Formats: sequence, structure tokens, C-alpha cells
Amino acid sequence: MRRKLVAGNWKMHGLRAQLGEVEAIAAAAAANPGVDATLCVPFTLISAAVGVAGALPIGAQDVHEADQGAHTGCISAPMLVEAGATLTIVGHSERRADQHETSHDAWAKAAAARRHGLQVILCCGETEAERDAGRAERIVQSQIEKSLPDGASPEWLTLAYEPRWAIGTGRTPTLDEIASIHAIARAKLRMMVGDAALGIRILYGGSVIGTNAAAILAVDNVDGALVGGASLTAEKFVPIIEAATSVSR
Ligand code: 13P
Repeated sequence: MRRKLVAGNWKMHGLRAQLGEVEAIAAAAAANPGVDATLCVPFTLISAAVGVAGALPIGAQDVHEADQGAHTGCISAPMLVEAGATLTIVGHSERRADQHETSHDAWAKAAAARRHGLQVILCCGETEAERDAGRAERIVQSQIEKSLPDGASPEWLTLAYEPRWAIGTGRTPTLDEIASIHAIARAKLRMMVGDAALGIRILYGGSVIGTNAAAILAVDNVDGALVGGASLTAEKFVPIIEAATSVSR
């Protein structure tokens, strides 16, 4: 039985003034012990967030593949560990689009995170044009094939399916469409890592909010949510954590 994971991705949002939200979300997470929750905040907020988050794991949104070196502006896994992060997102579609990151980059970043004991949320997902062309399934399979780190296991790896066209748009795939891609992702994982695939959580991300969370989280092979906009405040995020609890009973 895979425990649900509700992960918030604050993207480029969050100053110290928002630490009260971290605190409130941490309290709600503690009050929902049947599910896991986490917040991935900007690099600059990691250590302060850890200071108020109690048992709520705090993560980053990216990591460099090297441990150190001449890479202006980048942050390495040992730096994240020192700041108190316990996980990181890699391969987010906004980084694929804005920073031209590839699935191979995601693979190398995931490996670096793993080397230093960080958990990894590895993202995949098609664009609208790819979906319209009937290529969503093949794109997701290919991204998993190229980015799944060696030795992938449920202890440290989570996959997130985030169709790019559903991110920040208020549009979501139908529940059947979500079920179909998650089944394909599970099958691909199974081909690549065997039975370990049965324990690897697959999150759905893209316009998850309090009112659609329960239905999405009840879909087969949806083991949690990766939430952007609705993770920024406790008022919006806590109902999603509670929805995860309600579908886990
Ligand atoms: P939204 O929830 O704002 O659509 O963002 C999803 C996402 O990209 C999370 O990583």
C-alpha cells in the first residue's frame, strides 16, 4: 500500500514573511498522520523553513549534477543537505522550458541528489501540442526511460506526472486520462525496475486545488499530488492534505 504524498512546489514564491504559512502547513500535516506532506521552497528559504517546519520535510526545486565547481548561480546536493533539505524536485517542466533542461539532465541531477541522501521527485509530462498529436503516452514513456536514475527505489524516488498544459492554467486532464498515463508510467517503471515499481509513488500535478483533489487522488495509480499555486497558503493547501487523508481511509 503506497501512502499518499502531497507535495507543494512554491516555485519562485516565498520570503520570510511567508514562514507563518510553512508553520501552519506543518501543523496541518502533523494532524494528518495517515499521509505524507512536504514543501519545496526556493533555495533562499530552505534553512528558515526548516527552522519552523518541525517534522514537515522541506525540499528544493532543483539541484546541480556536480557536487561543486565553476557553475555560477547553481546549487549542489551537499549545499541542499547542509541547508536542511531532505528532498529535491528534478526535471520540472518549467526548468525544461525555461532552462532547456533535458531528460538526461534530470537523470544526472537525480543521481547527484541520491548520492547525498536526498529524496527525489522526478517530473515528466507532455506539452499541449504533444497531447494534441496523440503523443502524450510516448513522451512520458520516453522521459521516464531517459531520466529514471539507476537503482531507482521507493525509498528515495517519487515520480510526478505533470502535463505542461495543465500547470497553472486551471485545466486538468479527465480522470480517465490521468488514469491512463499513470498506468502507462507504472508499466514503464515495472519494465525498468521490476517489482520495486509497485512501491514507487506516482504523483499527479497540474491545477490541483482543494475542490478537485479528492477525485484526482482516488484515481488508480495516483499516489499523491504535486501542487503549485494552491500550496502557497495553508488555507488552500491544507484541504488538499485533508483530501489525501479522506481517500486513504
Ligand atoms: P499548479 O498547481 O500551479 O498548476 O502547478 C503545478 C506544478 O507545476 C507543481 O510542480
